[in-house]
Amino acid sequence: MKLLNGSILLFSACILCTCSLRNDNSSSEEKKINAFLSRMTLEEKIGQMNQLTGMGLSNDMTGLVRAGKIGSILNELDVNTINELQRIAVEESRMGIPLIFGRDIIHGFKTIFPIPLGQAASWNPQVAENGARIAALEASSTGIRWTFAPMIDVTRDPRWGRVAESCGEDPYLVSVMGVAMIKGFQGDDLSSPSSLAACAKHFAAYGATESGKDYNTTWVPESQLRDVFLPPFKAAVEAQAATFMCSFNDINGIPSAANEYLNKNILRDEWHYDGMLVSDWGAIDQLIPHGIAADLKEAALKAAHAGIDMDMMGYAYTNHLEALVQSGAVSEKAIDEAVRNILRLKFRMGLFDNPYTTALDTAPYYSEDALQKAHHAAIESVVLLKNKNNVLPLLDKIKTVAVVGPLSDAPADQLGTWCFDAEPQHSITPLAAIQHEYAQQVKVIAKKGLTYSRDKNPQGIAQAVAAAQQADVVLFFAGEEAVLSGEARSRASIHLPGAQTDLLKALKKTGKPVVLIVMAGRPLTIQEEVAEADAVLYAFHGGTMAGPALADLIFGKAVPSGKLPITFPRLVGQVPIYYAHKNTGRPASNIDLIDDIPVGAAQTSIGFTSYHLDAGDSPLFPFGFGLSYTTFEYSDLQLSSTTINKNENLSVACTVKNTGSREGAEVVQLYTGDLVASLARPVKELKGFTKIILQPGESKEVRFTITPEQLSFWNHDNQLVLESGDFRVWIGESSAKGLEANFSVK
Ligand code: GLC
Repeated sequence: MKLLNGSILLFSACILCTCSLRNDNSSSEEKKINAFLSRMTLEEKIGQMNQLTGMGLSNDMTGLVRAGKIGSILNELDVNTINELQRIAVEESRMGIPLIFGRDIIHGFKTIFPIPLGQAASWNPQVAENGARIAALEASSTGIRWTFAPMIDVTRDPRWGRVAESCGEDPYLVSVMGVAMIKGFQGDDLSSPSSLAACAKHFAAYGATESGKDYNTTWVPESQLRDVFLPPFKAAVEAQAATFMCSFNDINGIPSAANEYLNKNILRDEWHYDGMLVSDWGAIDQLIPHGIAADLKEAALKAAHAGIDMDMMGYAYTNHLEALVQSGAVSEKAIDEAVRNILRLKFRMGLFDNPYTTALDTAPYYSEDALQKAHHAAIESVVLLKNKNNVLPLLDKIKTVAVVGPLSDAPADQLGTWCFDAEPQHSITPLAAIQHEYAQQVKVIAKKGLTYSRDKNPQGIAQAVAAAQQADVVLFFAGEEAVLSGEARSRASIHLPGAQTDLLKALKKTGKPVVLIVMAGRPLTIQEEVAEADAVLYAFHGGTMAGPALADLIFGKAVPSGKLPITFPRLVGQVPIYYAHKNTGRPASNIDLIDDIPVGAAQTSIGFTSYHLDAGDSPLFPFGFGLSYTTFEYSDLQLSSTTINKNENLSVACTVKNTGSREGAEVVQLYTGDLVASLARPVKELKGFTKIILQPGESKEVRFTITPEQLSFWNHDNQLVLESGDFRVWIGESSAKGLEANFSVK
């Protein structure tokens, strides 16, 4: 290891952009808000705090709008209905305050991008920003101007259905991808009619849900809340996310909808957030089953005290806030604060100046640019996990290919969860793409074998095997139906559903090379299947263009560059298993696996360290892992110093070389570890990354800056501290492999 010499152009790890979305008339904005507040009745103020799901132009809905009893509508999709409701609000209600129309647009509106977990596997924030920008352009054409995204819950539990919607297990990667999505949704000007107000959700620690069961309790010590679950939300504040959404879960017994510490002390007082905080759907009235509110009135009281500005579909505010204010239980000042946040949002979105949406003759869906970017995103989101004997890429090696498996031609399932407005008829499946693009080069024999992912009927397996016997290579598209992940779609076992493993074994028995391509909403425990297959591509649910992307990767038009955004367990019993784990007092060593233990072995004859007898202590695949069709070599790790003081940056660099025969992209990852501290620290934590493209034989120096704040952590006394002592730094291809060096902080 050499010390860096001379001045160097530092490649900062990845700048969490804080582009300013704020127009420069905020003071005049506040004056306008004050003017509205001074004229509004208490009932009208509470009306702004009420959000309901669309009921078309029903008398109920138009009546509520005309009476100023509603501030936002979600799930209304027809531009003419939206414009008419907006006209009633602006022209017929007493205050003329425009409505905000919201919708869950998580990874696309019509052109569907890979699920967020797949986008995170690209480790390319531009992929995420592109997807969000295209979603904004498509959705805003209907009058929707608010999306309930990005979901930036860190999670280490693949049993949880919403892992599909997350960007994975690491706070830094989640922060970078979340900020990119916020930029994409909101664009450069939040008041533009083609911008969507973003919504950082679910605040907070929803991903820590016990047992991976959705809506479950969480137990999160303050230091872990601060170090792991809050950083993406703090980054969202700095990226000026227009709104936040509270989570359903309790944190240590206090549900987020009633959590003053979270929503006021941290979000408002510490982070100075001035956006709008909406509850999740019914989260306020769910304070009753949570057991911390006896009735809806108490739920409204607790949520108002906890700073929830808007009640999504809870009916708590609209039914009880007025009486609570009149009784003095809730101050009108608190109501004014909430309404101020709501009106400020509406001003920033330009809704007062431009409340209506121009209805277009032809909807701006599936543009060439959108499809091209979705195709590219799907390519970058695929992770190559195995490639024995370089069986991939296929082109010019084979004459006949068998395309089998329940996900080979499943246009709806390949879109994944959370794509309410998608149109599967626009999906291009792997089978369709291969037949369209490569039918001239290869003969394609297609037999699904199983009709859907949970299919246990073996009668189709023989046909798939027969197809395999006629082919030079078998492409087996396996995975999960879309319905098996997403909200309230947690699984206690995360193996390949149905008879897919039996099908794989039957295909393998033909002796033909089998390429396993998995399209799923989560990591699956595929240890056995990986052993059977000759090559494995993990594609998550890749969206509208998943088929062309996979075809390009399989036949070599594109090179895999994805890296895992979450650890893949061998067995579900290892969960939670993640790279940034603690070392423990007895880190795993001398591992005796269950099948190796002699019969009659004495209790003291095998080790006493931290691992599972039937799994060891390592994952199937580590965070940050992913192969390519080429190879990369890391060398020459350099530090600007081996000792820094507490207000000094550390510069680190190394050389990365493409030692293979094809162009390839490599995600170079930077990790640090605090070796001795006042709290047991993770063995390492991701502090930076960059994705570089190298031609065969080409080398590049990659440089990062490590700041003192990045080496800091929240200690036992709830303070953010940087402690003197020894640290380690890694630069490498995954959390499990890289060049390392030590340095110390004075
Ligand atoms: C759901 C989800 C939330 C979503 C909201 C509106 O229950 O938890 O993520 O934005 O309701 O659909």
